[in-house]
Amino acid sequence: MHVPLEKIQSYQQCITPSCRATYDVWEAVTECQKCGNLLDVKDNLEPGMFDGYKQELEARRGSQHIFDRSGVHRYRELFPFWHAAGKPMEEVLVSLDGREGHTYPVHATRVAEYVGIRPENFYIQFEGDNPTGSFKDNGMATGFTHAKMLGKKLVICASTGNTAAAMAAYAANEGDMQAVVLLGEGRVAPGKLSQALAHGAKVLQIRGGKFDDAMELVRRLPDVYLMNSINAYRLQGQETIVYRMLENLGWQVPDYIVLPGGNLGNATAFGNAIDKLHFLGFIDRKPRVVVVTAEGAKNALYILHNGLFDGKQLIWDGGNIDYGLIRRYHEYLDSAHVQLQTDATAIEIAKAVNTPKAERTIDSTGGMVISVTDEEMSDAAAVTARNGLFECDLASAASIAGAKKLVEQKKIPRDARVVAVETGKNKDPENTIDYHSKNRRFSNQPEVIPNDPEYVERAIRELVAD
Ligand code: F0G
Repeated sequence: MHVPLEKIQSYQQCITPSCRATYDVWEAVTECQKCGNLLDVKDNLEPGMFDGYKQELEARRGSQHIFDRSGVHRYRELFPFWHAAGKPMEEVLVSLDGREGHTYPVHATRVAEYVGIRPENFYIQFEGDNPTGSFKDNGMATGFTHAKMLGKKLVICASTGNTAAAMAAYAANEGDMQAVVLLGEGRVAPGKLSQALAHGAKVLQIRGGKFDDAMELVRRLPDVYLMNSINAYRLQGQETIVYRMLENLGWQVPDYIVLPGGNLGNATAFGNAIDKLHFLGFIDRKPRVVVVTAEGAKNALYILHNGLFDGKQLIWDGGNIDYGLIRRYHEYLDSAHVQLQTDATAIEIAKAVNTPKAERTIDSTGGMVISVTDEEMSDAAAVTARNGLFECDLASAASIAGAKKLVEQKKIPRDARVVAVETGKNKDPENTIDYHSKNRRFSNQPEVIPNDPEYVERAIRELVAD
């Protein structure tokens, strides 16, 4: 089986129908130089090229080659831009030694019961099982592949923490690349900051700033290789989250995929992946994508998609997005000095750069956008951890809290097949200890006791009696 990559041309194209400017694969641009809008990576893949590919993927499961073992690069023909380098894949593809992307959907009975979906129909895909502890590694594998093709030695990002951690690790592993990360002040989980520092990134924290400030700042820098999700080559790697999900479900399409939304890179990549798999004939229908944001983040997609600003609803409209509405919302956020506040700092993002593309995903898959409170996320995170499979980031638990809310509102039927994506592992244990130290819905309060064997015996006996 051979996908004829030699016949493939990859390039970037503006998402705006009246523009459609294109950019060569050798250019490092992340927004249209003509109209300023977002870009997609395009290629001329055709259904006929993928005959026998599912069997090829099966065969790669037994392979020891790092690019077959990598849960990203095993799908390398589905994001063929690297082939333009004209070199063997061993000299082009970047991987943390094949370790990224070893994730797949698992059943989680206690969580399913909490959400209200039949356990046999409910799955969590835990992207925290990536080498740096979040889904970002999927995107770094392709973003760094592109940066390396272009000979870049310096990579930069704005981050709420996980992008910084992942980018720092990939740069360190390449050896000859320097990572620079821009963070808000005091809004990054300690476990994420510690990774960025330990892996050798130059860390710049904006005094009094938040992620949105950091993002605006990095977009203004000329001649840097930007590793945020505005980079369409990075998003190609995040498409593999959906490829793995579907491959591991035997290509049986779930009814809903629920995920947290911040800068909306995943929401974009998931839509792209679903459209690609559908076009190439891997799946015969599309799952609906549900994006869950944090209420305190006032995320543009949530507010505008649901018509909560200016009384107007943002719609995809074949790409004729109302950019004026997005701009007015951003101006309102600035002029009214609107305070964002959520403990789910990973998704404390209002001016999500990928809002237009996320709108396309919702349109193309018949999806929904909702928000959840910090309390709903922390309860959902507690329930997830009590299932014993893993401990997730607070933002990750938005997918569980969101699924539960939609089941309660009867917008997701109880007999639906649902995959919730949990995007990262818990890197803020202080937050968790704080939850459990207080009288919260699922808290497991520690107790301070006298140094007395009888007291301990009694306490243990009470536990067993329960
Ligand atoms: N979940 C976690 C754990 C994250 O770290 C992020 C984003 C998201 C969800 C949201 O994903 O941007 O694709 O909608 N973290 C970014 C960062 C912003 O800088 O680490 P998205």
